[in-house]
Amino acid sequence: MNKTCIFQLTDSERDRLGNALVEIAYDPHGSMGYITDLRMIALSALPRRIVDALSEQRASINPRSHLIFENLPTDEQIFTTPAPEVFTPAAKSGHLSENLIMAFASLIGEPYSIFFEGADIVNNLIPTRKSKGEYTGLGSEVELDFHIENAALKFMDDYNFSPLGLLLTGVRHDPQGPLTRLADARAALERLTPEDIECLRMPLYRIKVPYRWRRDSAQQTGPVSLVRGSPDLPEISAVFYPDMVEPTTSAAAFSMEKFYAAIREVSFGIDIVPGRLVYIDNRFTLHSRDKFNGTYDEAGNPMRWVQRVFVAPNLWNHRNLNPVKSRVFQPKEAAVC
Ligand SMILES: [Fe+2]
Repeated sequence: MNKTCIFQLTDSERDRLGNALVEIAYDPHGSMGYITDLRMIALSALPRRIVDALSEQRASINPRSHLIFENLPTDEQIFTTPAPEVFTPAAKSGHLSENLIMAFASLIGEPYSIFFEGADIVNNLIPTRKSKGEYTGLGSEVELDFHIENAALKFMDDYNFSPLGLLLTGVRHDPQGPLTRLADARAALERLTPEDIECLRMPLYRIKVPYRWRRDSAQQTGPVSLVRGSPDLPEISAVFYPDMVEPTTSAAAFSMEKFYAAIREVSFGIDIVPGRLVYIDNRFTLHSRDKFNGTYDEAGNPMRWVQRVFVAPNLWNHRNLNPVKSRVFQPKEAAVC
């Protein structure tokens, strides 16, 4: 794990931030006023070194593959785990975790949500029995193998909603729960031969659009490359969970296999626990989630509760979507499920 990506708050920094964030009312719609409040509070309550790291990431001159923040403030009490799509203020003593993840997100980019990925601006990733076999954040029994979030959408000009990055933080911890794994594609590419990299750079792959994003006219991309841009700061479009990428030649399939093996080799696992927040740069850092069984409390509710926020550099690409809530968008033509 790259130590330059880890930022630890002191106890007094943690308490200062927590005291500032509890004063803000959470707005699940993600209104502009709420986000401006968070930006003002975060800039005054966060230590300078953390504001610098978030600003550098936003500017993207030399972005890190990921950022890990430790010893963050947490909600005083968690009473239960709610259903993932149901806004349930009574589940905990306040909205510190929501304000926390939104404050960090707001200093890196523009937070948003897509309605079918999460009904509120902060998405709850909570395993459900109904979704246990799904390749989504609500699933559990299948490994969500390494991927760039919504990679196929990078190639759909009128539909490019692949996020700049995503943030994850823990609200409740399942000791039997899964690790989230990250892999910096730059380190993986260093392990490949020039011939393999050349192959990954050629338009020899078709990427399936995630099920919920499919339209009649677009089930998969045309032939595209998995790697674009410079070796220092590449733009990656790989997805390694089953049947998502179709190589069009055997050489392309072979290079993709080697890329996948290298991604696994350079990866590391991290537990998304309360008090820890992880930012993943979705341009060249892949992420995965182990499969797990999940444990349940006495009331039968899952112990795992992780929150997620997507960020974009700006929301210009979202202008033709239906804003169901301020920053929660509904694609008009996507498959309804
Ligand atoms: Fe993901």
